[in-house]
Amino acid sequence: MLKGKTILIGVSSSIAIFKACELVSQLRQRGATVYVLMTQNATKLIAPLTFHALSGNPVIVDLFEPKENSIQHVTLADRADALVIAPATANVIAKLANGIADDALSTTALACRAPLIIAPAMETKMWEHPATQRNIQVLRERGAIVVEPEEGWLASGKVGKGRLASIDKIISTIERVLERKRDLLGWKVLVTAGATREPIDAVRFISNPSSGKMGVAIAEVAKERGAEVLLVAGHIEVSPPENVKFEKTRTAEEMIEAVLRHVDWFEVLVSAAAIADFRPKQVAEGKIRRSETRGLTLELEPTPDLLATVRDRRPDAFLVGFAAEIGEPTRGALEKLKRKGLDLIVANDVTQPDSGFGVDTNRCVFISADGSVEQLPLLSKREVAERLWDKIKEMRGKF
Ligand SMILES: Cc1cc2nc3c(=O)[nH]c(=O)nc-3n(C[C@H](O)[C@H](O)[C@H](O)COP(=O)(O)O)c2cc1C
Repeated sequence: MLKGKTILIGVSSSIAIFKACELVSQLRQRGATVYVLMTQNATKLIAPLTFHALSGNPVIVDLFEPKENSIQHVTLADRADALVIAPATANVIAKLANGIADDALSTTALACRAPLIIAPAMETKMWEHPATQRNIQVLRERGAIVVEPEEGWLASGKVGKGRLASIDKIISTIERVLERKRDLLGWKVLVTAGATREPIDAVRFISNPSSGKMGVAIAEVAKERGAEVLLVAGHIEVSPPENVKFEKTRTAEEMIEAVLRHVDWFEVLVSAAAIADFRPKQVAEGKIRRSETRGLTLELEPTPDLLATVRDRRPDAFLVGFAAEIGEPTRGALEKLKRKGLDLIVANDVTQPDSGFGVDTNRCVFISADGSVEQLPLLSKREVAERLWDKIKEMRGKF
């Protein structure tokens, strides 16, 4: 898979730099064309000649060094299939998060539109510092893939989180990104997203804060990975992805009807929409006027249950639900999974400020029908979508 790909490796001045030698060598052995960009500080730890020898290509350190191609950072950025920064210092991460372009590596990163993979390595306190965590979050929100550092022995002699991820893990992440993957080719997928709106009268409704970002990311990633995708959305605050079939609905009932119209078509249904569980039993005609009403009591009735209805009609389909929970999310979600006959449920605690409604990140747990639980770190909603499709693919592969 790496054969014929051009991979830029950005190397900064972490003590884990010696592992980058192995990374470059492995990538080259697997057929990739590798160019190494080093920060000036990195050259104080390892000589550029080492990477030159290992990659078989000149190493770029100084933007202003006279050479034939004086805008090599742009040429390389355009040619790259991926830019991998390993090891990434706290400093480089901060620069990328803020768009600083003051050396060859950071300037190339800014000019590059290929997928960005960052493998941080640093002392635990540097990694856990709110500034670093914020910068990592900014980069994730922009779509960068972060290969989380591992716990273990650090150069300071302490043990903690901050060790560069294993070379195997970095390479498998590169492969996953490059596979970019048409691995869902031929899949027929229906995704629901956004909030439903249940009318009270002609101008008012009951709804919830769902922005549709999670569902839209799931549809977008499935499309990119080759699936045929139908997105059925309620109210969403983001644009639907291009090239995805799109049906707009308003109420829970409309959304369920839209899904049932296609019930024999899809193989996988991911219901990320926040569908109202209750709706006003009666919808007032026109507008309820304050002057004509002294107080208002709404009688609510349950809406039809989308996932349970689909399960009745399609015992063979792969069904994924979402559970927005308050507090510890696993128990309530597992109960929902069983009650609705789901294959997989994605649970999150929506009371966390960086997770759930409206924000660009999510902190999720995958719970499978066999009871296995996988806790994900804080990730961008796109990265959650990638992981979700990996999980669905893995689980469907077992059938
Ligand atoms: C021996 C040595 C090891 C270092 N290891 C790390 C490290 O693992 N992670 C990190 O973020 N900074 C580390 N630093 C600090 C960075 O080198 C320093 O912040 C530097 O300014 C970063 O420059 P650069 O990002 O341009 O390479 C180390 C410094 C020294 C002297």
